[in-house]
Amino acid sequence: MNKKTIILMIAVIIAVGVVFWFVSSNKKLESKNNSNTNTTENGNSNEIQEENTNDKDKKIAVIYFSATGTTKKVAEYIKDATGGDLLEIIPKEKYTDNDLNYGNDNSRANKEQNDSNARPEIKNTINTDNYDIIFLGYPIWWGDVPKIILTFLDSHNLNSKTVVPFCTSGSTGISESLNTLKNYNKDIRWIDGKRFSSSTTQDEITNWINSIND
Ligand SMILES: Cc1cc2nc3c(=O)[nH]c(=O)nc-3n(C[C@H](O)[C@H](O)[C@H](O)COP(=O)(O)O)c2cc1C
Repeated sequence: MNKKTIILMIAVIIAVGVVFWFVSSNKKLESKNNSNTNTTENGNSNEIQEENTNDKDKKIAVIYFSATGTTKKVAEYIKDATGGDLLEIIPKEKYTDNDLNYGNDNSRANKEQNDSNARPEIKNTINTDNYDIIFLGYPIWWGDVPKIILTFLDSHNLNSKTVVPFCTSGSTGISESLNTLKNYNKDIRWIDGKRFSSSTTQDEITNWINSIND
């Protein structure tokens, strides 16, 4: 073999190597893209991700009502776990201890919960326009959502948005309040949320958020 042939052979080997590398790296990219699409189309159990191939681009708000601070703490944990914006539903008339006395049939909270038309006024303006996913938090009152949550739903168009309810309570679960919310507005994309206790930790919330996103 002369020198020219050897150089030609080396050049051919390098050229074949370059072509092989190019084709295989393109294939890897293609299969990565396909697997993303499949996650979306296969009806993955994660309801949030089903429609959102790019969840990182979705804007999140954590909106809550809290009369004595328990739900507020959970809302702050969710804000930290999601990086969303924290927005409080502030009642026009603050709830006093007497208002919250569930042992008294005539307390404000009890009367509101017994009145299907009660819609306690909200003091502040909450702009939900720019959000795609809303975590909506409240304390359980007599097994259900406080009526001010219905005032909030009446005054904000959340249709086509994803709403994840969460609540705190002494012991009652979230299910009755979930039914109320789902029946109140069937156009909202409700995700089954979760009830937390007053001793809930940041870790518990972060794990819950991760389980929704998996
Ligand atoms: C009027 C009223 C009714 C309540 N009803 C229930 C109930 O049915 N079940 C329950 O487990 N806790 C009930 N609670 C307790 C609250 O759900 C609980 O203390 C909650 O964590 C308070 O949240 P907050 O501090 O964000 O207001 C009630 C509290 C009030 C004031």
